[in-house]
Amino acid sequence: MDKELAKQIFEELYKEIDGISISLNERNALNISSKEFVYGEINFDSFIEIVDKVKPKEDDIFYDLGSGTGKPCIAISLVYKIKKAVGIELLNNLWETSNKILKKLREEIRNPLEIEFRRGNILEEDFSDGTIIFSHATCFEDQTMEKLEKKLQSLKKGARIILITKKLKGDEFELIDEGEKRMSWGYATYRIYKKIK
Ligand SMILES: C[S@@+](CC[C@H](N)C(=O)[O-])C[C@H]1O[C@@H](n2cnc3c(N)ncnc32)[C@H](O)[C@@H]1O
Repeated sequence: MDKELAKQIFEELYKEIDGISISLNERNALNISSKEFVYGEINFDSFIEIVDKVKPKEDDIFYDLGSGTGKPCIAISLVYKIKKAVGIELLNNLWETSNKILKKLREEIRNPLEIEFRRGNILEEDFSDGTIIFSHATCFEDQTMEKLEKKLQSLKKGARIILITKKLKGDEFELIDEGEKRMSWGYATYRIYKKIK
C-alpha cells in the first residue's frame, strides 16, 4: 500500500491509544519494577525507513519481540506484502490493546492481513520461522540479550534482525547497516544483522 495512505490509517488507529500509560498502570498494579519493561514505541516513518533496507518480500515472516500495542506489526503489514507478522508481548493489557487495534483494522480495511499477537515471553516463545525479526531492545538487560541471541541462532541463514540500541556478538550474525532514527522517546541507534551461518 502507498506509504502515505498506510500512515494515515496507522495514525487513525492509534490516535487515542496511550501505550506508556497502559504499560505503566499494569506495571504498577503488578509491582513490576524491572527496567526491561520501560515502554517506548516506534515512529512510523523511522520504522518504515529502517524496514525498507531489508526489502520485505511476499514470503517473509516478521516477528516483533516485545510488541507493546503492536505498532511495528501493523505498520509493516500495511506498507508491504509479506506472508505474516507476529508480535509477542508479555504484559496483558498491552497485548489486549494490540488485539483491539487489529480487530478495528480488519473491520476498516476488510483485508485478511496475516497478523497475530501472542501473549508470551520472548525468551520462551518459538520464532524460529521468522525471516525478519525486530526488537525494540533498548531496555533489555545484558542477560536477556544473551538469552535472546541464543534463540536467534535458531533462525535460518539469510534472516535479517533489526535491533534498536543493542548489539549481537556472535559471528553468525553479520552487521549490514547501522544508523540513527527517531523513536517515540528520542533518537535511537538501529542495527541490522544478517544471519550468515
Ligand atoms: C520498547 S517496547 C517496544 C514496543 C513495540 N515493539 C514498538 O517498538 O513500538 C518493549 C516491549 O517489550 C515488552 N517486553 C519486555 N520484556 C519482555 C519479554 N521477556 N517477553 C515479552 N515482552 C517483553 C515490554 O512490555 C514492552 O512492551
